[in-house]
Amino acid sequence: MTLNTRAFDHWIRTRFVEINTELEQLYAEQTDRANVEGVGEHLKMALEAEGREMIATLLAEGNTDEGFDHAFDLLGNVGLYMAACRRHEITEPSRERVSPLTEASALAMHIGASIGVTPRFATAHLTTHNSARNGLYKRFTNLPAEKLFVDYNTKGILAYKRAADALIKIEPLGITHPIAADLLKVAKQALVDVKESNQQLFKKLDTDDFFYCVRPYYKPYRVGSQVYRGANAGDFAGINVIDMLLGLCEANEPAYSQMLVDKFLYMMPEDQSILRDCMRRTSFMDELLALKHLNQQSWFTENVALFLEVCALHGDTAIQHHNELVNKYIAVPSKKLQQQHMEKVTASGPPLPVLLNALEKLRDRRSAADRSDINTRYDDIKSLKASLEAL
Ligand code: HEM
Repeated sequence: MTLNTRAFDHWIRTRFVEINTELEQLYAEQTDRANVEGVGEHLKMALEAEGREMIATLLAEGNTDEGFDHAFDLLGNVGLYMAACRRHEITEPSRERVSPLTEASALAMHIGASIGVTPRFATAHLTTHNSARNGLYKRFTNLPAEKLFVDYNTKGILAYKRAADALIKIEPLGITHPIAADLLKVAKQALVDVKESNQQLFKKLDTDDFFYCVRPYYKPYRVGSQVYRGANAGDFAGINVIDMLLGLCEANEPAYSQMLVDKFLYMMPEDQSILRDCMRRTSFMDELLALKHLNQQSWFTENVALFLEVCALHGDTAIQHHNELVNKYIAVPSKKLQQQHMEKVTASGPPLPVLLNALEKLRDRRSAADRSDINTRYDDIKSLKASLEAL
C-alpha cells in the first residue's frame, strides 16, 4: 500500500464515517426522513472536497501495480465515496449525463477495467472482503442498523458459500457416491445457518432505520458516463451455484441467464470463474431423474432423501428472503413513501413492481413452486419423492 492509499483508507474509516453519520442524524430529525435537499450543506461540501483531493493525488500516482487485493480494496474505497456522494445527492444520475466526480470516475474505471470488475463498490467490498482494523470494518456510518445489516449479510453470504462449496465437491465424486451424502449434509447445515441468520436479521433490524439510513447508500450511481446498478447481497457466485447444481434454476432459461449475465462483473473474478464453470454442468436433479429405476439401491435412498432436503431448504431461504426481508424492508415502506421519492427506492434501477416480480419468480423457481407460467421443478421434485416412497 502506498502512503496516499493508506491515507485515503484512513480517511474512509474515520472522517468519512463521521460526516455520513452526522448527515444521517440531520435527515432523521425531519418530518420527511427521505428528504436530503438543503440539509447539512457544509458537511456535504466537506465530504465532496476532501475525498476529491485525496483521490486526485491517487490518480496522479497512477497504476501502482500492487496486486489484485490492493487494487480491489482501493476501488472499494473510491466506490464508498462515490456511493456516499450519490446518497447525499451531491451527484444524481438522472440530473447528470456524466459523473461530476471526474477524478474518482477515472480512478475507478482504471482499476475496474484492469482487474475485471465493475468500476463501482460491490457487495464483497463491504462484506466478505472488508478487512477489520482492531475489530472495526469499513462502513458508511456508525449507525447500529448499518452494522447489523452488514454483519448479517456477511453471515448469510458466507453460509451460502459453504453450501455451494460442498455441492461443488460432489461434482468429481458423482451424486451416486456414498460420500456425497456427507457433502449434502454439509450443504444442509449451511442452508440452515442461512435461515437462522436471516431470521435474526428480520427480528433485529428496524425498518425505518434500514430504509432511510442504510439502503440509500446502495443506490445506482454514475461512473464516467455510465450508471451502475446498486450492490446487493446476491452478488457472489454461491447462490447461483446452488441453484444450478441442484437444478432448481437453469442457465438456459432466458430470465435466469439474463440475471447471470448482468451480475458477472459485480462479482470477484474468482467467483466469475466458478460461476462460468458451473453453467456448463449437468444438475444433480437431472442426473437423479435419469437414475430413478435404481431406487432400490441404498445410495439412492440416502442421497435422494438428502438431496430433496437440501432443495427444500434452499427454497425456504428464498421464500424467507422474499416474503420477509424484501417485503418488510423494501415493499411495505416504499408503499408508505411519498410519490415524489418513488423512483429512488430500489438499488438496481427497475421500478419496484418489476423488481418484485422478478424476485418472486426467482423465489418460486428456488422453491419448485407449482406455477404454470414459468418453468419450475415442481413435477420433478414430486417424481423423485414418489420414487423414494415407492420403496
Ligand atoms: C437481492 C433486499 C438481505 C441475498 C435483493 C434485492 C433486494 C433485496 C430488493 C433485489 C436486487 C436489488 O434491489 O437490486 C434485501 C433486503 C435485505 C436483504 C431488504 C435485508 C434487510 C439479504 C441477505 C442475503 C440476501 C442477508 C443473504 C445472503 C440476496 C440475493 C439476491 C438479493 C442472493 C440476488 C437475487 C437473487 O439471486 O435472489 N435483496 N436483501 N439478501 N439478495 Fe437480498
